[in-house]
Amino acid sequence: MRLIKKLSGLLTVVSIFNVLSSCSANVKSANYSNDIKEIKIGVTLYKQDDAFISEISKNIEDIAKEKENQGKYKIIVNVADAKGNLINQSNQVDKFVAQNYDVICVNMVDRTAASMIIDKAKSANIPIVFFNREPVEEDMERWNKLYYVGADAQQSGEMQANIIINAYKKDNRMVDKNGDGKIQYVMLEGEQGHQDSLIRTEYCIKTITQNGIELEKLADDTANWQSAQATTKMSQWIKSFGDKIEVVFSNNDEMALGAINAINDANIGGKKPLVVGIDGLPKALEAVKNGSMIGTILNDSKKQANAIFNLAYTLASHGNVNSIDGLEKGKYIRTPHAEVTSDNVDLYIENK
Ligand code: BGC
Ligand code: CA
Repeated sequence: MRLIKKLSGLLTVVSIFNVLSSCSANVKSANYSNDIKEIKIGVTLYKQDDAFISEISKNIEDIAKEKENQGKYKIIVNVADAKGNLINQSNQVDKFVAQNYDVICVNMVDRTAASMIIDKAKSANIPIVFFNREPVEEDMERWNKLYYVGADAQQSGEMQANIIINAYKKDNRMVDKNGDGKIQYVMLEGEQGHQDSLIRTEYCIKTITQNGIELEKLADDTANWQSAQATTKMSQWIKSFGDKIEVVFSNNDEMALGAINAINDANIGGKKPLVVGIDGLPKALEAVKNGSMIGTILNDSKKQANAIFNLAYTLASHGNVNSIDGLEKGKYIRTPHAEVTSDNVDLYIENK
C-alpha cells in the first residue's frame, strides 16, 4: 500500500515535471516565432482523387512554397482529403480549429451543408475561403469572414456551345452528320447538386438554340464528374443510338475522356461523335491535339489556386483583402475561362 502511495507520488512529480518542461518548450517556440512568423493554412478537399481538385490543391502547395521562399513567413499548408464524406470533413475542420489554424480553405463535400462548418469557424474567429463548390448565398451572408473562389459556370457552358456553333458554321456536315438539320446529342452531367453541372448544361443548350441551331436530345444523365461512370453511360447510349449520336457534351473533361474510351471500344467507324469537355486537364489537351476531342474549356486551376492562396495569406497576415484582384461584393472571386480547340491547344499544352 505504502509502496503504491510512494509510486503514485513519484508519478505526480514526473507528470508535473513533464508539464513544466513542455511549458518551457512552448515559450521557446514562441520566442522563436518572433523571428520567423508562421502562417497555418488548412485545406479540406471533397475528394482528393478528383483530377481537377487535385490540380488546384497541388497548385496551392506550389504557390505557398514559392511565397515561403520569399522569406517573410514560414507557411504551413495542411491538405486533408474528406473522401466524399461530410463527417470526415467536419472532423478535419474541428482539427484545424483546435490547432489554431489562421485560415481554413474548404472544398465542401455537400455545398448545401456549409452552415455547420461556418458555425465552427466563426466561433473560433477563423476565416474560411470556400472554393469550387459554392455555398448558397444565404450561407455566404452568415459572417463577414467568408469568401468563395470559383469560376463563372455560365461562361463555361456558353463557350462549350461556341465550339460546336463554330464547327457547325464552318462545315455543318461535320456536326450534323446525317444532314437532317438537327444536332442529335447526349449530355454527360456532373453531380446533381453541383452549381457547375446545372448551369453548364443549361447555358450550353440555350446558347446553341439561341444561335438558331436545332438540337435533339437523345439522352442525358449524371456520371458524377467521373470518367469510369461516363464510359458505362456512353457504352449504353451507343448500344441504344449507335451512330445517331452526333455530339457528346460533357460537363467536365474526365467524363468526356470516359466517353471517348467507350467510343473507341465500340468501333463506330467513320461516324464518331464530336466530344467537347470543360476543365483543360492535360489529358484533355492531348485529346484535343490528337483530334479525339473537338475542344475543351480551360477552367483555370492556376488562377483559382492563386486567388485562394492570396486570400488565405492576406487574411492570415492581417492584410487588406479588399485590395485583392477581382474580389466582388467583398467576398467572391470568379476566374475567367478560355476556349481551347486544335487552333490554339499548343499554347495551353506549353503552359500546363
Ligand atoms: C470541375 C470538375 C470537378 C468538380 C468538383 C468542377 O468545377 O469542372 O471537373 O469534378 O468541379 O467539384
Ligand atoms: Ca443530325
